[in-house]
Amino acid sequence: MSKQQIIAATDVASALRGLLNEMHYDRLFVLTDEHTARLCYPLVADALEGAHRITIAAGDEHKHVDSLCHVWSELSQHGATRHSLLVSLGGGMVTDLGGFAAATFKRGIACINVPTTLLAMVDAAVGGKTGINLHSLKNEVGAFYPAQAVVVSSQFLQSLDGENIASGFAEMIKHGLISTEEHWAQLMRYDLHRPDLEALQALIMESIRTKEDIVEQDPTEKHIRKALNLGHTLGHAFETLAMRRGTPVLHGYAVAWGLVCELLIAHRALSFPSAVIYDLARFVEQHYGAYAITCDDYDELLTHMRHDKKNVGEKINFTLMKKIGDCSVDNYIEPKEIEISLDFFRDLFHL
Ligand code: GLY
Repeated sequence: MSKQQIIAATDVASALRGLLNEMHYDRLFVLTDEHTARLCYPLVADALEGAHRITIAAGDEHKHVDSLCHVWSELSQHGATRHSLLVSLGGGMVTDLGGFAAATFKRGIACINVPTTLLAMVDAAVGGKTGINLHSLKNEVGAFYPAQAVVVSSQFLQSLDGENIASGFAEMIKHGLISTEEHWAQLMRYDLHRPDLEALQALIMESIRTKEDIVEQDPTEKHIRKALNLGHTLGHAFETLAMRRGTPVLHGYAVAWGLVCELLIAHRALSFPSAVIYDLARFVEQHYGAYAITCDDYDELLTHMRHDKKNVGEKINFTLMKKIGDCSVDNYIEPKEIEISLDFFRDLFHL
């Protein structure tokens, strides 16, 4: 799998113009959702002059085969060939669906990602995972198909609300844990209540480097790429529980709580240092609050985790950490241990 070109841009339009000048293609297409068409497209309109615009409905419920069909039809009806280029401008829903459309149209056309949310910049738009949901199953159909380039600009973050900044930052915290003590300390010093976007751009690039490093070693997630699932086994369970309760939470919030719980499991299973867990719990409490659970929720959380992974018997598969920068994938953990970590989680957050 070829390495993606990652471009850090202070001026997104001029970065995109420069990139397009270097690329060879016959027709240019740009995919947005209704929100990014209105809020983000104007920032890049000049650079994309002459492109055919394709717009899909916003929201994860539209990351669906009907939207994909619409993109394929638009490409086909407006003369896209194997040598055409698709620019996906949006959050993870747009870059995932656009990437899959590019992977499959005429067996593959070139694409560029221009992520407009922090979550997409540090995760979805980088690393080549593309796809759509099938019924209620997330990312059930897809392909590994890296964009040729990803243009990352904090210009888009100026209009992003604090909750979406915090949500994306949770994936950066995950990358911090699997990178170095130094990067971890930088993240823990960052004040999400008063985000400094210039400092954030530097942290974003470091975060992307961590992800790229892992993806390069294992592009199709046979082994070490599973490190990027850290925090997500319990995180997805929190996300599903919150959805079922009718009080959905942003993905990154669930990941932040999931990271604390999974480090608590790692502490008992692999002696992960408790001082780091206290630092993270303090940071998460300050910036994400606490997620209210009682012991009555444990069975439901375990049920969601069992659905989420390929497990062995009653045990659940986790990516865990031995220490910062030292990951261990495919740990099969007994439900009792997970319940103990949830007890500690509730103690840490005074629940
Ligand atoms: N979001 C995790 C990965 O790209 O592997």
